Amino acid sequence: TDLNTLLNLEEIEEAATKVISKKAWAYYYSASDDKISKLQNTQAYRSIMLRPRIFVDCRACDLEMTILGHRVGLPLFVSPTAMARLGHSTGEAGIAQGCRPFNALQIIANNSSVSPEDVVAGATPGQIFGWQLYVQLNRKSSEDMLARVDRLDQIKFIVLTLDAPVSGKREDDERINIQASSTGSVSAQLFAGTDPSLTWADTLKWLSKHTKKPVVLKGIQTHEDALLATQYAPFVKAIVLSNHGGRSLDTAPPAVHTLLEIQAYCPDVFKRVEVWVDGGIRRGTDVIKALCLGARCVGIGRAALWGLAAGGAEGVERTLKSKSDLKVCDLALIIISQ
Ligand code: FNR
Repeated sequence: TDLNTLLNLEEIEEAATKVISKKAWAYYYSASDDKISKLQNTQAYRSIMLRPRIFVDCRACDLEMTILGHRVGLPLFVSPTAMARLGHSTGEAGIAQGCRPFNALQIIANNSSVSPEDVVAGATPGQIFGWQLYVQLNRKSSEDMLARVDRLDQIKFIVLTLDAPVSGKREDDERINIQASSTGSVSAQLFAGTDPSLTWADTLKWLSKHTKKPVVLKGIQTHEDALLATQYAPFVKAIVLSNHGGRSLDTAPPAVHTLLEIQAYCPDVFKRVEVWVDGGIRRGTDVIKALCLGARCVGIGRAALWGLAAGGAEGVERTLKSKSDLKVCDLALIIISQ
């Protein structure tokens, strides 16, 4: 595929769909039950209109910013997604390479198909990463992974995912595996070792003993839980409002609704922790809406995988570029900064 002919993320997804295996497509595309949350994630942004101000000097546009004090080139990061090699042989290392020109943050998944050591080894010294943890029933294996990750300086924090104590019912994924008479869907296999019993105090106490890095809680879906998370600051330094791309509990709210809830009921949360969001981002204007509503930065999950599948590292680069190119995005950033 000539990546330059692809004008938006929809077209990158189409191009990727043509070249990847059915199994990879089903795993990436799938969401739970009726995919209501997946659809709403995108619809929610589309239903919000911008209020552009005029007579603003738009010459100097700079998307550089900091995430937890670390300089990055974009307020856009790559969310953790397992099994990137299903879609492209370079896997998570290819995603890292695609992030490089933008100095964009990448969060490496617990179930990544390239080891965190190898992903980081291929990156430039300025690139930063997070590492996502699913606490395993076999605690020792999680403790060993945390020790490995602690030794990698470019991994700046641990992202503990909490919205998927068990796998969602992802029927596209199930269907492919029934057809192939295989032993179970990709997600069922990945979740088999995950501990479904986690609770606030016990888990965070355990985690604080096994990592020196700050912690980000991913999968917050209500203002009540956002507020609870702040009780664990400063060990918890950020929260990610996310419904797992609609892949966990269907009809869980889009992140932008949770943002609005926090604005309405407990806006102090924004002062205590950084609030990140992901799910359904398709356009620079979506990013802007999230930032205007209080998010520090915005993640993309599937879009990075589609980019990778369509064109390896260059496909990921194309995916991120299609966002940073948008003039309206730059414009709105100027407006926010004033
Ligand atoms: C994910 N996601 C995810 N999250 C996580 O914390 N650990 C994981 O291993 C995975 N794996 C994973 C695989 C695939 C194929 C997808 C699509 C997603 C969720 C991910 O981090 C993110 O929350 C969503 O993908 C965001 O929604 P969009 O951008 O895909 O709409």
